[in-house]
Amino acid sequence: MHDSKLPRTNIDELARLNQSRPVKVLAVTGGKGGVGKTTISTNLAISIASTGRDVMLVDADLGLANVDVVLGLHTRFHLGHVISGDCRLEDAIVTGPHGLQIVPAASGVKRMANLTVAEHAGLIRAFSDLYHRVDVLVIDTAAGLHDSVVTFTQAAHHVLVVVCDEPASITDAYALIKVLSREHGVQRFQILANQTRRHGEGPDLFNKIQRVCDRFLNVSLEFAGSVPFDDYLRRAVQRQTAVVEAYPGSISSVALKNLALKADKWSVPQGARGHLEFFVERMVGARIAPTTVLQ
Ligand SMILES: Nc1ncnc2c1ncn2[C@@H]1O[C@H](COP(=O)(O)OP(=O)(O)OP(=O)(O)O)[C@@H](O)[C@H]1O
Ligand SMILES: [Mg+2]
Repeated sequence: MHDSKLPRTNIDELARLNQSRPVKVLAVTGGKGGVGKTTISTNLAISIASTGRDVMLVDADLGLANVDVVLGLHTRFHLGHVISGDCRLEDAIVTGPHGLQIVPAASGVKRMANLTVAEHAGLIRAFSDLYHRVDVLVIDTAAGLHDSVVTFTQAAHHVLVVVCDEPASITDAYALIKVLSREHGVQRFQILANQTRRHGEGPDLFNKIQRVCDRFLNVSLEFAGSVPFDDYLRRAVQRQTAVVEAYPGSISSVALKNLALKADKWSVPQGARGHLEFFVERMVGARIAPTTVLQ
């Protein structure tokens, strides 16, 4: 959180120091509404944070926000205020479990769902200017194929597509992969099966999607794993807590923590890919690490 007591020179120094660190950016998406994007991104972010990493979770569901609701957080500012210039990005950050830094989205603000391309780009650049220390940035995207989904997903390093074993989810996930690959140059996807109800359902679902993608698209898919359907997860939602916190031994928690361990091994790209992306200036060329020690 922004500490206004820090002298400006130290803030600048801190910014320079942190801006020389690579950040891994994961976008959690899925095409269809209600498949579990917010559940997965929230629990994944908390699980990674619990291993000691500095994690930031961005609620980029610009139409209908809910990370703050899921975690029972009280927020004063959100991304809407950042875009309208009413506050800086650092002012909107609230702290969740394990020091997780959360950027809430605007709830039910219509204009937020219809941002211009320049506003999206401005938002993504605002992250580069943060002086906060971040190892992993997790983005919870909206359902569907809004511009915001495309921009945020394209700007991420890893795209996690959440799918359930139902025709609408599979078709929407395919449509999302198709648009992102054909029109926006996103070629690699991690497929996560959510709400699985039997052993082997996740790999079967993955194979189904891979078969159709192999036939019609030029993409590379990886199976990120399965998160079983779990009543404890629903109970946690009712209590406004994350399942990995409320019921750490539950089947969904175990799966989510395994996903976090896996995601921790995903690499950060070495070079810029030629389109709008998060923290791009941290990858371009060699930066000279500052030698000043902060007081
Ligand atoms: N593995 C699971 N087991 C049981 N319930 C689940 C599981 N995953 C998600 N849910 C439930 O499904 C509902 C939708 O989940 P969530 O809000 O995470 O979906 P979403 O994809 O973010 O939806 P939206 O598109 O509206 O943003 C929630 O009530 C959540 O508790
Ligand atoms: Mg959601």
